Amino acid sequence: MSTLIVHPLNGTPLVGSVPVPSDKSIGHRALLFASLCDGESSIRQFSHGEDNVSTANCMRAMGATVTDVDATTLKVKGTGIFGLKPPSGDLDCGNSGTTMRLLTGILSAQPFKSRLIGDASLTRRPMMRVVGPLRLRGAIISGEPHPKKEGDVTPPLVVGPLPDGTFLKEIEYDSPIASAQVKSAILLSGLYAHGTTWFKEPTLSRDHTERMMHALGVPLKTVATAVELDPAGWNGKMEGFSIDIPGDASAAAFLVVAANITPGSRVTVRGVGVNPTRTGLLEIVRLMGGGVETVPQGEQAGEPVAEVTAWPNQLRGTLIGGEIVPRAIDEIPIACALAARATGETTIRDAEELRVKESDRVATMVHVMRAFGVDCEELPDGMIIRGKEGPLTPATIDSKGDHRIAMTAAVLGLHGSGPTKITDCDCIATSFPRFVGTLRALGARIDVES
Ligand code: S3P
Repeated sequence: MSTLIVHPLNGTPLVGSVPVPSDKSIGHRALLFASLCDGESSIRQFSHGEDNVSTANCMRAMGATVTDVDATTLKVKGTGIFGLKPPSGDLDCGNSGTTMRLLTGILSAQPFKSRLIGDASLTRRPMMRVVGPLRLRGAIISGEPHPKKEGDVTPPLVVGPLPDGTFLKEIEYDSPIASAQVKSAILLSGLYAHGTTWFKEPTLSRDHTERMMHALGVPLKTVATAVELDPAGWNGKMEGFSIDIPGDASAAAFLVVAANITPGSRVTVRGVGVNPTRTGLLEIVRLMGGGVETVPQGEQAGEPVAEVTAWPNQLRGTLIGGEIVPRAIDEIPIACALAARATGETTIRDAEELRVKESDRVATMVHVMRAFGVDCEELPDGMIIRGKEGPLTPATIDSKGDHRIAMTAAVLGLHGSGPTKITDCDCIATSFPRFVGTLRALGARIDVES
């Protein structure tokens, strides 16, 4: 398991123009939909983060042909919606909650049985959020009893088979949480259902599934935070497509924040997806007085893309809560780094979902903040961070196998009064395999020990 040693910048600015890996969320969806299409699809600018590779392997195991054309292009020959084959073994979702939850939606409608497994972190994560509504429409799914949350289940999940001649039923589901993974699982199951699928969430979560379904001719209507899929009159087919996956806004967030907290910096990230359901972090930067500019570069696959440039400004504490949280859900850890370098207090609320990510990101970030000498108070649904002037305490951080914690600690480590050590960093490859190289290209000094 690799360890990062991050050296203080000591006044060196971060400067340059860099790419980021392709969007992980869109990558999963491109692979799932291409596998369910009739004919061949081409997925370009695909960056082989481990989570996306887990999705590719699961779909291969069920009959889709996924081949590498070159380093960043995949060809996918789909099975058609009704052509998936029973996998010969377990479907391994690795560290990827998105793979497991979205696949559960598809598998719940299949006439064969499947078993979904994951790594130690994924095996601790709650699955009733998808299992519950899918059962309501007739799906047969079981999991292991959750060790801490009564009534919840964890992986492995055993899904199906749906008895011969039966179909998933219509559903009207008012979700208690804003979750794109839940929404997408229910919508994907809706491709197979007899009757409509109606899903409403308290505030809007990322809408990549809806955009892709729309582009593929699936009859979908969105009104505010509700979406309806009514398959009546639809031929049940999706044709192969070509997609250029935009850069990952969640990966770009680390660079935007690094530039914002490092005097003299100017960092540009090219080709970043700026779907408004994903740009909460950019809004938080602006809210705190930071420097960020987006220059539109058109659309890719129905998703807006921009060049994002960031530079430092005096940051001030703020309140992060409400509808912005789902639009910045994966960026809250790195937003804590902004708060650590701002004047005054930043309060993060309404973020209890962070407790069930790859780690308990509330508890882990509180620990990280304190290790760097930043005053931080834990709340049930967030935290209060009091910004610290001057160099941070050089810290030793255990990432807990959580990629976003490891990368946040690395960005903070650039401002230590001495080197910061971050252990258990292999996880960074799940979403940003070239993270260290990218920071080095901008001027950072980071050693990797294996
Ligand atoms: C994702 C949705 C989010 C996010 C995850 C990816 C997706 O989870 O945290 O990293 O691709 O749908 P929730 O929708 O459960 O909050």
